[in-house]
Amino acid sequence: MTNHRIALIPGDGIGTEVVPAARRVLDAVGAEHGVSFTYRSFDWSCARHLREGAMMPEDGLDRLREHDAILLGAVGYPGVPDHVSLWGLLIPIRRGFRQYVNVRPIRVFEGVESPLRSAEPGSVDFVVVRENVEGEYSEIGGRLNRGFPEEMAVQEAVFTRAGVNRVLDYAFTLAARRAGRLTSATKSNGIVHTMPFWDELVAERAAHHPGVSWDQEHIDALAAKFVLDPRRFDVVVGSNLFGDILSDLAAAVAGSIGIAPAANLNPEGDFPSMFEPVHGSAPDIAGLGIANPLGAIWSAAMMLDHLGHPEAATRVTDAMAAVLAATSVRTPDLGGTASTEEFTTELLARL
Ligand code: NAI
Ligand code: MG
Repeated sequence: MTNHRIALIPGDGIGTEVVPAARRVLDAVGAEHGVSFTYRSFDWSCARHLREGAMMPEDGLDRLREHDAILLGAVGYPGVPDHVSLWGLLIPIRRGFRQYVNVRPIRVFEGVESPLRSAEPGSVDFVVVRENVEGEYSEIGGRLNRGFPEEMAVQEAVFTRAGVNRVLDYAFTLAARRAGRLTSATKSNGIVHTMPFWDELVAERAAHHPGVSWDQEHIDALAAKFVLDPRRFDVVVGSNLFGDILSDLAAAVAGSIGIAPAANLNPEGDFPSMFEPVHGSAPDIAGLGIANPLGAIWSAAMMLDHLGHPEAATRVTDAMAAVLAATSVRTPDLGGTASTEEFTTELLARL
């Protein structure tokens, strides 16, 4: 029996509804595969911020460090500005634990309708790999002359050779394990310093991964192709900002943001990696018990894969696909009437 120590951060809103569902699935599939989990739950959230003035305690990262992985629901609550919840919890964890790769798989499952006519179920299956710790989301910059007519703001994008190379290597290696195709998101026609640098590094790293065919697309044209022909992609790699936007677009293509998972990886394993659904805390449906737990469950499957249990991970995604293809049990975001609980119970039956 292998045991893993998992830190749970349910967060706010539907985060507290979908994380328990994912935990039930982990326990069930773990029991079948000789894997057990010791969970520790942290109440870090906007609710905590309102109570205690901070999203997490000062020594938050130290407390997380002793875990093998982190499973997070979502943070965000009306009354706490979004940049506070993001920079008070998610970004410190991503950066402090060198989770420099953000992996977001996209599939249009049988039984799920994409808003796109061109995306027949089963035909869309790709992964967006986002650089997760530098790029456009930098702390470098500032504001001057606040409140005066000459008020100004400057924000510097930061691209380092080491930072770009390591995420590119991850993406090329992933493509080699999949269909062997990589697309790089760029904008070197408009952003004339950082993006040509990015393009040069892509060409350099490509030479180290000869089994992968690759191309590059400007981000605007690429966004259009996600909509017009999402079947053509295998692995798409982009900077922090481009990857962020593309992966939400891709999640919409897949039929519901409620399905989309994400992994924030520290591939070397020096620090715990963090797994979280792409969606937020959904205040509009929080407390109703109807949140789609698939994003959290698929994230938990990615965690299993990362922890060295790929068969258990595939078992979970197969069970997800089976429920969607063979039954009409689904939550309202996918046109069904099932509760989070009912859907999870159906999925457990398929495991
Ligand atoms: P959101 O993802 O929470 O909700 C967008 C829409 O999708 C809503 O109509 C919601 O009901 C629906 N939805 C989302 N997840 C669903 C699920 N699992 N099942 C069924 N329907 C679902 O995004 P929104 O409204 O922009 O943000 C709400 C709050 O969440 C904000 O405070 C925001 O900052 C935060 N947020 C947090 C994220 C995180 O923790 N990683 C990511 C995105 C937003
Ligand atoms: Mg986003």
